[in-house]
Amino acid sequence: MCGIVAYVGPRDPAPILLEGLRRLEYRGYDSAGVAVQNGAGIAVSKLAGRVSKLKELLSREPLCGTAGIAHTRWATHGAPTQRNAHPHIDCTGRIALVHNGIIENADVLRAALERAGHRFSTETDTETLAHLIEEAPGATLERRVIAALEHVHGTYGLAVISADEPGKVVAARLGSPVLLGIGEDELFVASDASAVLEHTRSVVYLDDGDIAVLTPTEYHVIDSESHVQLRSVADIAWDLTAIELGGYPHFMLKEICEQPDTVQSTLRGRLLFDDGRARLNGLNLAPEDCADVRRIVIVACGTSWHAGLVGRHIIEELARIPVQVEYASEYRYRRQVGVPGTLTVAISQSGETADTLEAMRAARAAGSQVVGVVNVVGSTIARESDGGIYLHAGPEIGVASTKAFTSQIVALALLGLYLARERGMSLERGQELVCRLAQLPQLVRRALELAPVVEALARGHASQHNFLYLGRGVSFPVALEGALKLKEISYIHAEGYPAAEMKHGPIALIDQSMPVVFVAPKDEVYPKVLSNMREVKARGGRIIAVTSDGNGDLTALADHQLRVPATAPLLSPVLTTIPQQLLAYHIAVLRGCDVDRPRNLAKSVTVE
Ligand code: F6R
Repeated sequence: MCGIVAYVGPRDPAPILLEGLRRLEYRGYDSAGVAVQNGAGIAVSKLAGRVSKLKELLSREPLCGTAGIAHTRWATHGAPTQRNAHPHIDCTGRIALVHNGIIENADVLRAALERAGHRFSTETDTETLAHLIEEAPGATLERRVIAALEHVHGTYGLAVISADEPGKVVAARLGSPVLLGIGEDELFVASDASAVLEHTRSVVYLDDGDIAVLTPTEYHVIDSESHVQLRSVADIAWDLTAIELGGYPHFMLKEICEQPDTVQSTLRGRLLFDDGRARLNGLNLAPEDCADVRRIVIVACGTSWHAGLVGRHIIEELARIPVQVEYASEYRYRRQVGVPGTLTVAISQSGETADTLEAMRAARAAGSQVVGVVNVVGSTIARESDGGIYLHAGPEIGVASTKAFTSQIVALALLGLYLARERGMSLERGQELVCRLAQLPQLVRRALELAPVVEALARGHASQHNFLYLGRGVSFPVALEGALKLKEISYIHAEGYPAAEMKHGPIALIDQSMPVVFVAPKDEVYPKVLSNMREVKARGGRIIAVTSDGNGDLTALADHQLRVPATAPLLSPVLTTIPQQLLAYHIAVLRGCDVDRPRNLAKSVTVE
């Protein structure tokens, strides 16, 4: 949520900051702003709306200077107005800052600061920080930032400049990601590597509690006692093409189409054909420890939670370990009952989702070992886990998660195989599964060949108001995911249900105007799903069947059939989800929706 970028160096900061904001806009996009040190003081330019509007404003009224900070916002405290947009300044206008996160005691701080004579001009929690720094003692900006943060409860990723210290940026992190980009005679601060990749591949990830002080030629990281901390320099593993549209009209479509490659990347180097095993070096779960796992708890949110539900089927079936799948936001506040032998798996594309992070911390506090299934390398969940599986799916820019979902399922299948082979699965079964997994990229490519058919189907359904998605067994979470994709980008109301559960209420909704998507690959519950289709058909519902090769012709029942290649039933979600992603995408485009930046949403939910 929200994007931060800051620059200090010999170049004019504004164009660099604007470009950084454009790259970060997927993290929040309701208002944007820039502040630069301009020799005389600090000049601020900000507005409600997109970065492109800010760019127009700055081309009419340029800001020039030495160092600068910028922000693209997803509103929490205060409406997305120009006034509430970051950067925020103190009473003197000599300190400006941008902030991600939430200051939980902002109301108390504000009241105290107002009593002391400070004048507030916004409704945001962030503005309290500007006044706190103004009020704080200290000879340098960093000392004042440290002193101010002592009063703060909450989370922050922060970049601050002062008119009194030209050519300096101070950054701070607690619970909201911040990295430094290390260039030649220039330095950057960003909430996300994509903002700096154009300029440098070398980054330093700040830890919670770190304060970084940057001048054009030097940076150092200190803790709240001013002790210098050493932080290693990491290399960003992907290049600019990963965050460019590359000829596609939207990132979402690009990411859907990338899936043969991203599934391949998740599998790369992890399949041992002769042994019928998975190699998961980063998991840090020794083969002998696998026998001791008595229960698995998966914590996740949204699409990652759906992947967890698929993972439950896979792991229970392969490794015969009971799996519990929890909404992280609920789990974190429940009483944790420590059960010996519990392994907690935190699934998160971004690795920064606040609820998932806290659920994982709660599980650890209750004595569980914790592993992460994460896409973003170096993210907080990845760093706080005891081990894990990186997805290696590359940056996901479209706000609606697509390629991460398929890679999460593949990663969970690898985990299931890894555990199963240590717990008695036969060599032959292991080898068969390895072969099935290895075939997936090719099958995903074939599933994508449905694109023109799905696009035509979307044309006939773009004006619908409701959709029902139904599936059973491992396809139930695929139905949930299909409904989520449609509602979040097209704003059509859609619900996912276990197909048989429909009879217990939702069947009342079925009539000629209700499209019902059945996820019905070839598996052991397929005959049961056919019965559920008949129930819908008998009530005049219009059926779109996402089915697979090997299932008979459904013309008598379904109005439309989308047929993906057959695979092992447990792996079918990787394929059946693809026509659903395409359907949601094309319907949203036809309805004129901003597919990559759906209203009210943001990538990476770092607030509760
Ligand atoms: C939906 C979507 C969200 C995320 C959820 C968790 O398309 O993207 O539901 O899946 O916010 O995010 P991560 O996986 O980053 O923890």
